[in-house]
Amino acid sequence: MILTIESTCDETAAAVIGRGRRVLGAAVAGQESIHERFRGVVPELAARAHVARILPVIDEAMRMAGVQGHDLTAVAVANQPGLAGSLLVGLCAAKSLCLAWNKPLITVNHLYAHLYACQLDRETSVFPCVGLIISGGHTSLYACRSAIELEHLGGTIDDAAGEAFDKVAVMLNLPYPGGPHVSRLAQQGNPRAHDFPRSLFDAESLDFSFSGLKTAVRYALVGPGRQDFRELQLSPQQVSDICASFQAAVVDAVVEKCLRAIRRTKLKRLCVGGGVAANQALRSALADASQRAQFELCIAQPQWCTDNAVMGAIAWELWDAGRIDGLDADILPGLVRHTHR
Ligand code: KG4
Ligand code: ZN
Repeated sequence: MILTIESTCDETAAAVIGRGRRVLGAAVAGQESIHERFRGVVPELAARAHVARILPVIDEAMRMAGVQGHDLTAVAVANQPGLAGSLLVGLCAAKSLCLAWNKPLITVNHLYAHLYACQLDRETSVFPCVGLIISGGHTSLYACRSAIELEHLGGTIDDAAGEAFDKVAVMLNLPYPGGPHVSRLAQQGNPRAHDFPRSLFDAESLDFSFSGLKTAVRYALVGPGRQDFRELQLSPQQVSDICASFQAAVVDAVVEKCLRAIRRTKLKRLCVGGGVAANQALRSALADASQRAQFELCIAQPQWCTDNAVMGAIAWELWDAGRIDGLDADILPGLVRHTHR
């Protein structure tokens, strides 16, 4: 059994995973109530909340699984990418437990883990595949030879898709995190009410851009310059139309880039993970595209799209490949925009 720890952003999570991706125990503590009034994650508050929660969360996962430290094979932790303070709390907890229990440490790439969420409920391997990670911090395409050998194909040059959802939600005075609220309201809206831009770049590009779309939404609501969005008077239908048109623009751009990546790599499977992969409109648009373009689609189950420690099951793949780390392992917070291991 491997204990997996996740604290890259604002969820504190731990799980105990057996061989064959068996989930023996899992716990998550969110921080919405802490960050809600700031309409976004405040890194220092996130790190402090992780400090308070990490041991109780680990304890809960271990108790659910009915295991003790000496039963474990290893302790795994996501050490990249993410918020520096948040990552440090998880890594320090993992190292301390490794020292106390005399267990090996495995460091996990959070983005790879998001994709591995597609493997959790499947017997046969989902690799090789094109991988799309679409979350609050990332929108990236990879050619994945295996769970742990990924080649970066493209990514966002500005905002991540989830970040755009959250920023549009702020303009519409919706609660944080905004993605689920925008997507719920979009169901009652007209996706053709506003003709928002789809950033497709040149025909070959596998990069994404969502900041122009975000600005277009802003101009549909208010003029340029300083504005107080709280004073906006919009009917429920106007809000829903903005949400639906914005969401359609995100979905169109994402589907087009996935199709390009499938064509370019000649891979026959697309795996999708990350918080925005929970979005119903995106899921059905990708399902349509997979029928039309004849590729297999694997999207993580909604409960494993947003941050969790169960996707840390990828640690078994690293273990099998002999990828054990020393206790001098460090955090790697930076945004990943190019090929890496
Ligand atoms: O993967 P995640 O939990 O954290 C990161 O690693 O970033 O993703 C969180 C992001 C947030 O931006 C949130 O608004 C978005 O995922 N999100 C959604 C939906 N559920 C979560 N965006 C659109 N539609 C959803 N249903
Ligand atoms: Zn994430």
